[in-house]
Amino acid sequence: MKSFYLTTPIYYVNDAPHIGHAYTTVAGDVLTRWHRQRGESVWFLTGTDEHGQKVMRTAEANGVAPQAWADKLVEDAWKPNWRALNIANDDFIRTTEDRHMNRVQTFLTSLKDKGYIYQGDFEGPYCVGCEEFKLPGDLLEGDLCPIHSKPVENVKETNWFFKLSEFTDRLLDHYKKNPEACQPESARNEVVAFLEGGVRDLSISRSTFDWGVPVPWDTDQVVYVWFDALLNYATAVGLTDAPDSEGGKKFAQTWPADVHLVGKDILRFHAVIWPAMLMAADLEVPKKVFAHGWLLVGGEKMSKSKLTGIAPADITDHFGVDAFRYYFLRAIPFGSDGSFSWEDMSARYTSELANDFGNLASRLAAMVEKYCGGVLPAVAQDADLSASLKATVATADSAMEALDFQGGINAIMDYCKQVNGFVTIKEPWILAKDPANQQILEDVLYNTAESLRALAVLLHPVMPATTEILWESLGAKATLGEIGAQKVSEIATWGQLPQGATVTKTPVLFPRLEVKE
Ligand code: ME8
Ligand code: MG
Repeated sequence: MKSFYLTTPIYYVNDAPHIGHAYTTVAGDVLTRWHRQRGESVWFLTGTDEHGQKVMRTAEANGVAPQAWADKLVEDAWKPNWRALNIANDDFIRTTEDRHMNRVQTFLTSLKDKGYIYQGDFEGPYCVGCEEFKLPGDLLEGDLCPIHSKPVENVKETNWFFKLSEFTDRLLDHYKKNPEACQPESARNEVVAFLEGGVRDLSISRSTFDWGVPVPWDTDQVVYVWFDALLNYATAVGLTDAPDSEGGKKFAQTWPADVHLVGKDILRFHAVIWPAMLMAADLEVPKKVFAHGWLLVGGEKMSKSKLTGIAPADITDHFGVDAFRYYFLRAIPFGSDGSFSWEDMSARYTSELANDFGNLASRLAAMVEKYCGGVLPAVAQDADLSASLKATVATADSAMEALDFQGGINAIMDYCKQVNGFVTIKEPWILAKDPANQQILEDVLYNTAESLRALAVLLHPVMPATTEILWESLGAKATLGEIGAQKVSEIATWGQLPQGATVTKTPVLFPRLEVKE
């Protein structure tokens, strides 16, 4: 079976991660967890981009060799950060690994053999922050990079070139025939306009420094860091390995990638250069490149180079990991820019997570304990709740499939509101005062518990730890098995929690926020 294969960018190890990197990786984690719960085979890759001048100069400035610098950042910052955010990636690739470097060299040689690589003279502006050759027209006054607001450098070298320009028409044709291959629409329009403006061949090697993959036939040169980095998506799953080898089989199972998740800063690399490299090698191009927006600080892209990065821990220490995972996908339409605001996050935490969701869970557990001795009463089916659940699952599933995380989460939280409304109207605490109402009371509690069973599964990809706690409190783990094994297609099947399940009080799912000094 072909796996659903999703990648994040591989991040530069010039510094530790900030919430912009976490935004992309959490989105990838939520989407892959969703697909796993659809019962699909999934492969989720992230990693680090370790070559090039940006990393090399940072290492030099810190007085260590680039490899030692990269090792330290990966082990002390990047990997622990993803563990802390509960990211369930299947693999982590580093571009300094042999498995990557060897395959990059084999790939490059094959393109040269096919006549797509030639030697030439390069001269032009280069931004080390972007690791990108710029056109004079791209620059701000004073020859500043528009992304980094720093001066570009003039590069003049004899290099190896890739015949990128030969692929312009094929790329245009590809996006015309497959509009879903570059999303959102604004991103595709940008790529198409860029291609229509004409594309130059690309210098893919550098000779003035040596921190990179050596060009196999000209070892005075190293491969241009983006050409090296883009290949990670394919080298990590066995690119160039013999078809009957382990790597070859993995490649057949995963390639082409289903989604390359990237920020819009690196859209062109992914939607122009990368598919052209694949076309040159007669490989399939990715099914979708999705470019999301930027987290902004003071109206500008949050960035390591501008020192405006907020560390994920600054937020998770206060709000917890699951609220972090929830907030950015819930608050910002995926594809648009958004500003992080402490106030907005506090407000949503309190109203949506603590009040709407957390309180519902703790009220239900408390009432089942008080009115039914902690034992779930007989199955009952409220027609409105079960019909809405069906609609909610369908809406959430198609929204997630379209990477509309906000739409998906909204649909789920609307259902949560409806369940709260149900409890408020039925007033179980009043029903409990008259033993004649015991049957109605039990029906209300069962319907609420069953709704929470569905909410736990629906929100599991977004908030894996909290929903796991809820799952156990509903007695679902003991009766229905692991929450991660519940299938999206079965969530709306009513009446799964069995009569007699032991319901226990949860620890508070979303504790009241500490007042911040
Ligand atoms: O570009 N808002 O690495 P990088 C949202 N190594 N997302 C942000 C963000 C922000 N303010 N800042 C960063 C590179 N990101 C290359 C990639 S891939 C073959 C090589 C996220 O460390 C977003 O996903 O600069 C963006 O595209 C990525 O981090 C850039 O990370
Ligand atoms: Mg960057």
